[in-house]
Amino acid sequence: MGYRETYDRWKADPEAYWMDQAATIDWITPPTKALTDHGDNLYEWYADGMVNGCYNAVDRHVEQGRGDQLAIIHDSPITGKIEKITYSQLKERVEYLAGALLARGVEKGDTVVIYMPMIPQALEAMLACARLGAIHSVVFGGFAANELAVRINDCKPKAIMAASCGLEPGRVVEYKPLLDSAIEQADHKPELCLILQREEHPCELIEGRDLDWYEAQKDCLPAACFPVEGNFPAYILYTSGTTGAPKGVVRPTGGHLVALNWTMKNIYNVDPGDVFWAASDVGWVVGHSYICYAPLIHGNTTVVFEGKPIGTPDAGTFWRIIEEHNVRSFFTAPTAIRAVKREDPTGEFIKKYDLSGLRALYLAGERADPDTIEWAQEKLDKPVFDHWWQTETGYTIAGNPAGLEALPVKVGSPTVPMPGYDVHILDEAGHPQKPGELGAIAIKLPLPPGTLPTLWGATDRFIKSYLTTFPGYYETGDAGMMDEDGYLYIMARTDDVINVAGHRLSTGAMEEVLAGHPDVAECAVVGVSDQLKGQSPVGFLCLSKGVDRPHAEIAAECVKRIRDQIGPVAAFKTALVVDRLPKTRSGKILRATMVKIADSQPFKLPATIDDPAILDEIKAALQEIGYAKD
Ligand code: COA
Ligand code: AMP
Repeated sequence: MGYRETYDRWKADPEAYWMDQAATIDWITPPTKALTDHGDNLYEWYADGMVNGCYNAVDRHVEQGRGDQLAIIHDSPITGKIEKITYSQLKERVEYLAGALLARGVEKGDTVVIYMPMIPQALEAMLACARLGAIHSVVFGGFAANELAVRINDCKPKAIMAASCGLEPGRVVEYKPLLDSAIEQADHKPELCLILQREEHPCELIEGRDLDWYEAQKDCLPAACFPVEGNFPAYILYTSGTTGAPKGVVRPTGGHLVALNWTMKNIYNVDPGDVFWAASDVGWVVGHSYICYAPLIHGNTTVVFEGKPIGTPDAGTFWRIIEEHNVRSFFTAPTAIRAVKREDPTGEFIKKYDLSGLRALYLAGERADPDTIEWAQEKLDKPVFDHWWQTETGYTIAGNPAGLEALPVKVGSPTVPMPGYDVHILDEAGHPQKPGELGAIAIKLPLPPGTLPTLWGATDRFIKSYLTTFPGYYETGDAGMMDEDGYLYIMARTDDVINVAGHRLSTGAMEEVLAGHPDVAECAVVGVSDQLKGQSPVGFLCLSKGVDRPHAEIAAECVKRIRDQIGPVAAFKTALVVDRLPKTRSGKILRATMVKIADSQPFKLPATIDDPAILDEIKAALQEIGYAKD
């Protein structure tokens, strides 16, 4: 069956379609119905089934005779080490780790924060939680202690699992002081911390709270897989929204197993046993879905990569790994390919490696610009598939279903909606737009299995953020259009979320931090175009009356504040002091207009602007740092 037939079959009877797909995973008790409608546009899938996520990702492959197959290849060009773990070994490592947690009282429904770098133990921590029915929340290592504290307060973990350090090129990131500081800042305190001592930089353990990862497993029994309901949360993953408080996206267990398993063949075109590699980080949704869960659920070998596209040691790292481990499908963010392209424009490194085993390159996480796609197509001589999704959905909304039927690629479009997603382009009043017309991208409810049913402890916020603007639809926060052939084009965010090097960040969160500086009276942060990172944040600061310190000093303090309070990942390097911010008469800051000015794009003077002269001041400030060229 091709794409169109499959999509039509789903659309004709979504519940029957997803009941069929449910049979591809192992249930303890299969669900008797697919969808539960709770009213108010709130839905859940497979609510009355019983299942275990770790069993589906690990144990079942061992039981089916694939115990000797590799489950994980850890390749760390930073340490120079490669480690290979079979499914049997993974099972043993996870069941004892889960046993250590269980022995300390961690059980079904408890939350566990995981703060770890790109090492196999990060996946093992996630799987150990899944084994017990504990709900994990992984926090990206590039976030500062304050962001970790915010997440600890929100999900109130019984335990935290962390490593002593992460390794960035040329820099050891000491996780332990960040963790200690986060726990000190947080109102909620975990009962225990399980700490993996990395030989590159071991840390001090706090007696009575911290346990050594392996010591804690001694004398523990291996833990069995605990059954959880199909709609039971597998994990919480915090993502950026409009305000500073991150949103805790809830991932339901049954739906995520079924949907992720579907994507591995139909989108990524891999069969069990094939090596699949997503070069992202376990701290992001791509890492949850495609470094950890999906490849393992589907019986693939997953590559855990601790390195960067360039500089570890060179722009050939991706291609070396693809050859060495025989990667069939490779997934990364466009920014990573841009980094490689900038370093190796003629593709000399690509020529050094045998990439004959690679079938396709998949890009997501931000808009894939045509230059990057075309460069990769030409230099790799492989299909390059852009696909569009979000933390909220956990997998592709629109993509090219290469395993089902590879559709013609239209550069600039992530291709077509996947079964499960009824995508519409709407105007501000919620009316459908014609093909080719821009509008807000909305998805008709219910969303398919595996997508978020709510936000952690915040159903009102969930409804307000996603379900209110267009009744009966999920509001994606993206704007774009659909062409006559049903191909989607994703053009921009409709909110204050920006995308820096494939990392989703909130300008609102950055503004809150800047506003906390004692000399800052008012501020705005916007995402300006960046050739490498897609977007990069620029802050505008209006100082309080009477402040006469050097502007450069205040700007530097603001840059440091964001690094200390949000983290290096915000990549916030530029703050400009200006007299005033451009606003509408009702006081709304004209951020979109500021972006257009910075990017030297034409813009319409907003009819409601209070004082157009301010735009000239903004332009002059931007020109001093090389933006807003005429
Ligand atoms: N722990 C601690 N710090 C981290 C970190 C982590 N896990 N990840 C990134 N950082 C730090 C970096 O060291 C850097 O710090 P610096 O300001 O001291 O240099 C900062 O955060 C910004 O990092 P990054 O965005 O990675 O920028 P970069 O300039 O180091 O590298 C790229 C640029 C394009 C090579 C890099 O962004 C990249 O590989 N992007 C791929 C993105 C990706 O996979 N996204 C996942 C979504 S699909
Ligand atoms: P995240 O939740 O971090 O995965 O970020 C999701 C957001 O990244 C989306 O809402 C889009 O704004 C953007 N995004 C992700 N993939 C794409 C893509 N293929 N094309 C354009 N934008 C994308």
